[in-house]
Amino acid sequence: MSVLDIRNLKKEYRTGWRGNIVTVAVDDLSLSIEPGEIYGFLGPNGAGKTTTLKIILGFLKPTAGDVKVFGHDAMDWKVRERIGFLPENPAIYPYLTGYQALYMIGKLFSIPHRDLTKRINRIAGELGMDRELKTPVSNHSRGMRQRVGLAQAMLNDPDLVILDEPMSGLDPIGRKMFRESINMLREAGKTVFFSSHILADIEMICDRIGLLHGGRIVLEAPMTEILDREDGKGLEQIFMEKVGEPI
Ligand SMILES: Nc1ncnc2c1ncn2[C@@H]1O[C@H](COP(=O)(O)OP(=O)(O)O)[C@@H](O)[C@H]1O
Ligand SMILES: [Mg+2]
Repeated sequence: MSVLDIRNLKKEYRTGWRGNIVTVAVDDLSLSIEPGEIYGFLGPNGAGKTTTLKIILGFLKPTAGDVKVFGHDAMDWKVRERIGFLPENPAIYPYLTGYQALYMIGKLFSIPHRDLTKRINRIAGELGMDRELKTPVSNHSRGMRQRVGLAQAMLNDPDLVILDEPMSGLDPIGRKMFRESINMLREAGKTVFFSSHILADIEMICDRIGLLHGGRIVLEAPMTEILDREDGKGLEQIFMEKVGEPI
C-alpha cells in the first residue's frame, strides 16, 4: 500500500470582497509515494507546495480530489499519529527551552513521562542538540530552531515525515546537518516527503522528485534518471525548459 496517494487534487482559495477573487493554488495534482521513499517536492515560491502539504496533514480541505494517507482519508485524525511535520516557520513558545518545548509536544501525543524523557534524550543525541535543549527557543538561531522543529517532528516515531522547506534560511553547515538527518530517517525506514526551492539539496538526497509549477506537476522522475541523462541537463535547465522561467 502506498504511504501517500493523491488523486486529481485541486485547491482554490477565495479571497477579497464576497470571496470573488479565486486563486488556484493546486491544480489537478496526482502523486503517490511508496514506503521508504525520500520524495522531493520542488518548486518556486507560490507553486502550491505548502498548500499540498497542509491538505495531506488534514489542515485544509481540498476543493476537489482525493488524498489518502496510509489508505485513510487525510481528514481522518487517527492517521496523524503516524505523521511527523515540520512547518515552514515552526512556532515554538519562545520562553520554553528546547527540552520543555519537546516535552510539551510529547505530552500532546500522550507519551508517558518516562518514555518521553528517554525519547527526547535519544533524538537530541542523534541530532546533536544538547545546547538547544538547555536554552530558551527565543535565543536560538534559525538552524537551532529548525533542529528543535525536526526533533518535534520525530517525537511520535512517525512512519511518514513531512518537512516544509526544511533547509531554507540555513547556512551550509545547517543544510548538511539536515541532509544527514534525512539520511538517518531513510536508514530507519521512514518515508520522507519534503518541499524545497533549493535544487542542490534535492539532488543530493532524494530518491524521486516532483517539479511543481502553478499548482501542477510538470515533471516527476527518479533522481537517478535526472543524474544519468545523456544530455547532461540538470534540474535547473529542465525546469527552465518546462516552464520558461528559472526556479
Ligand atoms: N490562505 C491563503 N489565501 C489565499 N491564497 C493563498 C493562501 N495560501 C496560499 N495562497 C496562494 O496559493 C498559492 C500557492 O501558495 P503556497 O501553497 O503557499 O505555495 P508554496 O508553498 O509553493 O510557496 C500562491 O499563489 C499563494 O499566494
Ligand atoms: Mg511554502
